[in-house]
Amino acid sequence: MAILLVSALLLLTPSQVAPDEDLLLKNVSILEVLKSEVGALSNTSEQYSTQVQPPGTSHHIPQTIIVGVRKGGTRALLEMLDIHPNIVVAATEVHFFDWDENYVKGIEWYRNLMPFSYENQITIEKTPGYFTSLHAPERIHDMNSSIKLLIILRDPTERVISDYTQVYYNRLENRKSVQRFEDIVIKNGALNTKYKAIQRSLYDVHMERWLKYFDLNQIHIVDGNTLIKQPLKELQKVEKFLNLPPKILSSNFYFNQTKGFYCIRSDGRERCLHESKGRPHPVVNRTVLEQLYSYFREHNRNFYKMVNQSFDWH
Ligand SMILES: *[C@@H]1O[C@H](CO)[C@@H](O)[C@H](O)[C@H]1NC(C)=O
Ligand SMILES: *[C@@H]1O[C@H](CO)[C@@H](O)[C@H](O)[C@H]1NC(C)=O
Ligand SMILES: *[C@@H]1O[C@H](CO)[C@@H](O)[C@H](O)[C@H]1NC(C)=O
Ligand SMILES: *[C@@H]1O[C@H](CO)[C@@H](O)[C@H](O)[C@H]1NC(C)=O
Ligand SMILES: *[C@@H]1O[C@H](CO)[C@@H](O)[C@H](O)[C@H]1NC(C)=O
Ligand SMILES: *[C@@H]1O[C@H](CO)[C@@H](O)[C@H](O)[C@H]1NC(C)=O
Repeated sequence: MAILLVSALLLLTPSQVAPDEDLLLKNVSILEVLKSEVGALSNTSEQYSTQVQPPGTSHHIPQTIIVGVRKGGTRALLEMLDIHPNIVVAATEVHFFDWDENYVKGIEWYRNLMPFSYENQITIEKTPGYFTSLHAPERIHDMNSSIKLLIILRDPTERVISDYTQVYYNRLENRKSVQRFEDIVIKNGALNTKYKAIQRSLYDVHMERWLKYFDLNQIHIVDGNTLIKQPLKELQKVEKFLNLPPKILSSNFYFNQTKGFYCIRSDGRERCLHESKGRPHPVVNRTVLEQLYSYFREHNRNFYKMVNQSFDWH
């Protein structure tokens, strides 16, 4: 499928290629989530593939969109789904439904950004910013009210730390001032619930907006932690949800001991998600962690009810 990819990886800026938030966390499996969510493909030949139109293909608007969540593992999910012969994926985050300056360009602009695909293929785009956008649900519904949506989520506290860390390293790279996690999250002894990263982890608040426009059976939630530990298991659920024949196999994954996570083998090529370089470990104060866990607890319970599904978050 890679041949059909637009060479848009070229457009990835260093700030979009995520930093190394892994080091925050002690557990290797969580570390894997963090590593794999960050990255672009490491095989550079792919990045330079040119956009040629194979006969019988055209640009189609996506029949499925991965709408979030930021730092949830959206890149890993997209790259893994790309293994399936009936799936083509857009290489970059398009930000059509969440950025007004793109939305005004119209649906044809959007369609033309999609990779070439055959009639029997599903086009998938991922822009994690959609999940928390006020306008995205309605706008996506306007485009196709029966669209299928994928959301990949992880423990909301882990997500906050990962979000913070990405911003932290972006700021370092841009020579801007940085603050300790605890100093942002705690203000005057209390949890700073206005902090954007915390707001983004209120999954119930955001989900409510999506459920105003879409039936629950149009939305599939991928467990980000499971995807990293047992990719095949989660991907088979997605194949089922998309009514695709099961074509993704265990042989499409191999565990790279050095990297500490799964890489992909398909179309005779091997590719791993972007690997970040070593960084110092921000270790979060236990008391602050507990405050976050307890803040999210009720929101999580509310979310489980909304989606009729439970997760083993703190
Ligand atoms: C790390 O993850 C494994 C399974 O993924 C779990 O059994 C173990 O308890 C975790 N360790 C810690 C310290 O969280
Ligand atoms: C809308 O989405 C559904 C579900 O993916 C798909 O079957 C249908 O073809 C889509 N319609 C258009 C116009 O893309
Ligand atoms: C495994 O990961 C290491 C370290 O990132 C990398 O150098 C190597 O090429 C990878 N091997 C495979 C087979 O993917
Ligand atoms: C990158 O892709 C090329 C051809 O598509 C392949 O020959 C090569 O082995 C791949 N390299 C890695 C590190 O996966
Ligand atoms: C963690 O933060 C609490 C207050 O929020 C403080 O009392 C405690 O000393 C901190 N612990 C460490 C190890 O820094
Ligand atoms: C909730 O999920 C259970 C099993 O996962 C299912 O049997 C039940 O029909 C679902 N309820 C709703 C309202 O979707």
